[in-house]
Amino acid sequence: MSFADAPAIAPLNPPRRILLGPGPSPVDDRVLRAMSAPLLGHLDPLFVRTMDEVQVLLRYVFETNNSLTIPISGTGSAGMEAAVANLIEPDEEIVICINGYFGERMYEMATRVGARPIRVECEWGGPVDLEKARAAWRASNASVLFAVHAETSTGVLQPLEPLREIADERDGFLMIDSVTSVGAHSIGVDRNRIDACYAGTQKALSCPPGLAPVTFSDRAVDKIRARKTKVSSWYLDTTLLTAYWADAGGGQRTYHHTAPITMNYGLHEALRMVAEEGLDERAKRHQRNHRALVAGIEAMGLSMQVDPDYRLWTLNAVRIPEGVDDASVRSRLLQEFDIEIGGGLGIFKGKVWRIGLMGAGSTENNVLLLLAALEKALAHEGYRVKDSGVSAANEFYSVN
Ligand SMILES: Cc1ncc(COP(=O)(O)O)c(C=O)c1O
Repeated sequence: MSFADAPAIAPLNPPRRILLGPGPSPVDDRVLRAMSAPLLGHLDPLFVRTMDEVQVLLRYVFETNNSLTIPISGTGSAGMEAAVANLIEPDEEIVICINGYFGERMYEMATRVGARPIRVECEWGGPVDLEKARAAWRASNASVLFAVHAETSTGVLQPLEPLREIADERDGFLMIDSVTSVGAHSIGVDRNRIDACYAGTQKALSCPPGLAPVTFSDRAVDKIRARKTKVSSWYLDTTLLTAYWADAGGGQRTYHHTAPITMNYGLHEALRMVAEEGLDERAKRHQRNHRALVAGIEAMGLSMQVDPDYRLWTLNAVRIPEGVDDASVRSRLLQEFDIEIGGGLGIFKGKVWRIGLMGAGSTENNVLLLLAALEKALAHEGYRVKDSGVSAANEFYSVN
């Protein structure tokens, strides 16, 4: 290939999609505007102030006073890797509850940091089997118990209290994935005494993907400080990151890596929006729109994959009816209505649609539009809905 002629590539001009899939979620214009602000240096006093404020706001959404609460530069998976790479040493056991795709990913990460992960296999589409988790915990020497709060692959919300109880049997550390819950479902890091919790920016926080908020309890920080071995990842080593992020209050900040300035502007604004709305109000909004969607889905004669007691408000797994082509429905929604929904992951591939109502995407407008568009796409597939989903959702909204 000759490099004499530079490639002539047209500028990007993406349409404004309505992002109702498993993430990323729609981003408010306020966040996009914040991201177009002039760049500051990563040790500029104004950027340092921004970092301090991001930490204050992250403590609010995680519901914690943990000092070590920072956004890792990277997507949610970087947060996952930071949690396991810091909290676990090689040859240490960790009990990993697997009831979906992301539990499986944590298992893979744990093997890579040299840990000895113990699998608790649970049914996809249901919560963690507590008896199995307890038995695995008792049979092991693990100091850490891991589970996913909001399994994006299945739409399951995992109650955290019983997991804390299991870990408490011998003062264990609880590590939780809150990528798809934070900013919608209460995570209560301090209330649930979670020792390591990570999230992503692109779900219910409604910021573009690119940062992974994490928080570690003081107890977890002590465990990390007492490690016999260095954290295997230099980039994700919280002992090094702390010197850059957390030495606030007049202390010197030491260069670690060049923080993604613009992403931090975006997160700062997205978190301000969460604080303006308030966690309780935000939770109520997510719950209300989820319930309206379910009313519409069920009126149409479709069914939800997850038992009502364990349904996420952010991610709705809807069973694909017999004879309906998964890909053609999703493609029609995208082409005709600019709506993105997700297909199934892992064993749910081709079996469920994953409809995200996250952050700025969780609105009455989006619920009604999606139900109307889905009805049309289903009609193309020869599927006749039982009743109008839009009417059922409207009826729900009129009394809730
Ligand atoms: C529950 C859960 N954990 C971890 C991740 C990984 O996040 P990312 O794709 O941002 O790396 C995701 C992404 O969808 C997720 O849903």
